[in-house]
Amino acid sequence: MTQAPLRVLLSAEQIQARIRELGAQIDRDYPEGPVYLVAILKGACFFLADLARAMKCQARLDFIGISSYGKGKTSSGEVKLTKDLDTSIEGADVLVVEDIVDSGVTLNYLMHVLGQRRPRSLRIVALLDKPDRRLRPVEVAYVGFQIPDEFVVGYGLDYAEDYRNLSDICVLEGPKAG
Ligand code: IMP
Ligand code: MG
Repeated sequence: MTQAPLRVLLSAEQIQARIRELGAQIDRDYPEGPVYLVAILKGACFFLADLARAMKCQARLDFIGISSYGKGKTSSGEVKLTKDLDTSIEGADVLVVEDIVDSGVTLNYLMHVLGQRRPRSLRIVALLDKPDRRLRPVEVAYVGFQIPDEFVVGYGLDYAEDYRNLSDICVLEGPKAG
């Protein structure tokens, strides 16, 4: 593939420092545990791994697959569940772990689906938030960083499945695709 120019927006060190703060905040809010961390595949996988280790309270991990994007940079507007949870969340304290909140379409849908399963509590932790892009309302309890309306890759975030394994979060520059 041809490498598009990348500009570092958040360095690996900045990301890790912020995740330590989020972990401490979650520990204070859920002193009892267990907290069910539900990560949205695939983008949130590195965030989940680092956040879970930044928390001292008891955490359980599960994964949900949801897709609202095609191969381009803009949402298709269509949301579908591609993989369901392995465990019941009824009566559980659930924290949905997401890489980025953009239009809000994905999380708005997911919160509705998970809410019907009667968890004791249901909140969202998102590493990145692009508030200017919101089309659907989403209440995000914990936000790592608010970022401007630019397309970012790295630390789990992809463009057409590339760049997920960068340690930094970078702006993907060049011509707008998709
Ligand atoms: P939403 O439904 O528009 O809020 O989209 C959320 C999903 O879109 C995220 O989980 C990402 O997978 C993807 N997404 C949104 N913005 C970006 C971006 O800047 N880079 C990479 N993926 C993004
Ligand atoms: Mg995602």
